[in-house]
Formats: sequence, C-alpha cells, structure tokens
Amino acid sequence: MIMNRCCKLNSIKPKIWKTFCLAVLIMFMFISLSGCKTKDPSVKTIGISAPSNDIQRWAVETVLMRDKLREKGYEVIIQYASSDISMQISQIENLIAKDADVLIVIPIESASLGEAMDMAAEHEIPVISYDMLITNTDAVSYYTTFDNYRVGTIQGQYVKDKLDLDHADRSYNIEFTAGDPGDNNAGFFYNGAVDVLKPYLDSGVLKIVSGQDSFGKCATPSWNTEKAQQRAENILASYYNDTAVDVWVASNDTTALGVSSALAVSYKGSYPLITGQDCTLINVKNILNGKQTMSVFKDPSLLIDATVNMVDEIFSGKPVTVNDTKTYYNGVKIVPSYLCEPVYVDKDNCIELLTSSGFYTIDQLQ
Ligand code: BGC
Repeated sequence: MIMNRCCKLNSIKPKIWKTFCLAVLIMFMFISLSGCKTKDPSVKTIGISAPSNDIQRWAVETVLMRDKLREKGYEVIIQYASSDISMQISQIENLIAKDADVLIVIPIESASLGEAMDMAAEHEIPVISYDMLITNTDAVSYYTTFDNYRVGTIQGQYVKDKLDLDHADRSYNIEFTAGDPGDNNAGFFYNGAVDVLKPYLDSGVLKIVSGQDSFGKCATPSWNTEKAQQRAENILASYYNDTAVDVWVASNDTTALGVSSALAVSYKGSYPLITGQDCTLINVKNILNGKQTMSVFKDPSLLIDATVNMVDEIFSGKPVTVNDTKTYYNGVKIVPSYLCEPVYVDKDNCIELLTSSGFYTIDQLQ
C-alpha cells in the first residue's frame, strides 16, 4: 500500500511538482508575514484617542496632529469614539494592544477613563491628556491645553471693556451659560469670567435677572446646543418679557449657538452682547452677521506643536517642557501642564486673525 503511494508520487510530472512547491512557498511566506508581524523598534507608535470626528475641533486637530507626527517619522493611529465613553475606553485598550508607545487622549469626560488608564499604567505607557484633563488617576503623565481660566477672563474682560463698566451710568442685565459639569475645563471658564465681572455683580452694575448665579445652575450637559437653547428660552420667557438682556456670557460656541437660537425664537428686546469660544465656522459667521459678539480663538497649531514637542522630549529623554505645575490637580496628583495662550476674536479682527493663521480661508468666511 505504502509502496504504491510512493510510486504514485514519483510519477507526478516535474512541472506540476514545481508549481505545487511554489504555491506552498508563497502560502508559507503570506502566513508568516501577516501572522507574525513584528514591530520595528525604531518606529514609535503614537495612539490618539478622540471623542468624535463629528465635532469640528477634534476632526481638524487630530488630523493636523497626525500629519505633524508623521512628518517626524512616527506611526500614528487615531480612534474616534462617537462620543461614547465605553467605546473610548475600549479604543484606548485597543491602542495599547497595538503597542502604542505614547497615548494622546482627548477625553469625552474627565473622570471616566479609569480602567483604560490603569491598563496604560500597567504597560508603562506615557499618557498626554489633550485639551481636557483626565481626572482621578495617576496614570496621566502630562497635560497640554489652552489656559482655561484665561479663556474665561478674556470673555469677562471683553464684557467689561465693551460696556465700559468702570464708568457705567446705568445697570446692565446679564445671564450666564456654562459648560458640561463632566468637563474639568468648564469650571475654569465660568470662574474666569465671573471673577472679572464679580465687582460689578457685587455693586449692582451687572444684574443676573434670573438669579441663576452659580456654575451648577448655569451648566449645560454635554455642551449640547439644544439644551443651552431650551434653558435660554425658559429664562427669556420667565424674566425678559418687558426688559432687555444686555449680556449673555456663554462659555463656548455650541452653547452660544443655543442662546442665539433662543433669542431668535421670541425675544423682542435690544440684542445682547454674546460671548463664545472655539471660533467654530457657524459661530464666526454669526459674529460677522451680528448674531454673536465674540469668540475665543485657541489656535490649534499652538496646542499641536506643544504636544508634538512633548512626544519628542519623552522619547529623547530630555526634560519635558511644561509651564504650569500648580493649577491642574486631577484628584490624585498635580499634572505637569503646558498651557497655550488664547485670544479673543470679534467682527473687527476675525477675518484677519483667522485667515492669517490659516484656520479658515477667506472663501470659508464668505
Ligand atoms: C474645550 C472647548 C470646547 C468644549 C466643548 C472643552 O473641553 O476646551 O474648547 O468648546 O470642550 O467641546
């Protein structure tokens, strides 16, 4: 029987035999290349975890950051979590499984990444918290952001200057719309604005007619435009039927949009000064057509450069450049931070500032 088989094999024609061997060889090469991909240790992988690419800021900034990192020879993997916290946790775990050497994380919510951060710590992967601080963990190594308190003081100072509050010959009605209570930045924005305006609130030059005078009362879950609009509509219907609202301090552009939409529904008084933050395209258009007064510009290239620089320094073993080691206590430790400088934008400077920085083209603003 065995003899019989050998004889059969020997009788296979040499050409067929050659083809068979070649096919086996190719199959073997394919399996070994795809199954046992080993990482080139000289190429470092940077994992970027972002809340969602539906939000203009994160869609633009993650791609700019990826390009800068690639120019420097890093491999980059970006994951967007569709604003879903459990998805963000598993995406970070996935980035760790893919051997990320550094993680750059823009959290959806400051305090919700515990499990994923524990895993990063176990693998000794440095984590840079980008824009929003990751709280309640010691696994976050560094924080890059804009000076969040300063964003608020810029808004407050703008109101103070435009209404010339030091020489006011009448009082002004004011309302506040703050951000998401789950976002560590939101309190900094609100407090910065209130701290500048407090002397005028105390003296009665500024009056919060609704009486909603704390972060908790003014907060907007998820920074959601519809929720900001709903709250503003309620305030207008309850307190501003026969009096004007002069100022509305909205912490950012999504909430400012809610306020301007609420005013459009039924408000008949003189139009208020409205603040914002981010220079989102629709809000800049509103600034140009008078539906919003100002926004705060956080030039992404500043934040991206600071973050990419930090990545370089981590690998080079040089001391990592930070400019704040006092402000950002995350519930476990003070996170060494690099804070970039924001600036205000209004109808007088927005075209010049936003186009010269390359943030928008002239066509986009038309
Ligand atoms: C960011 C703001 C943004 C807000 C809502 C904050 O953490 O710093 O720029 O407007 O989130 O997305």
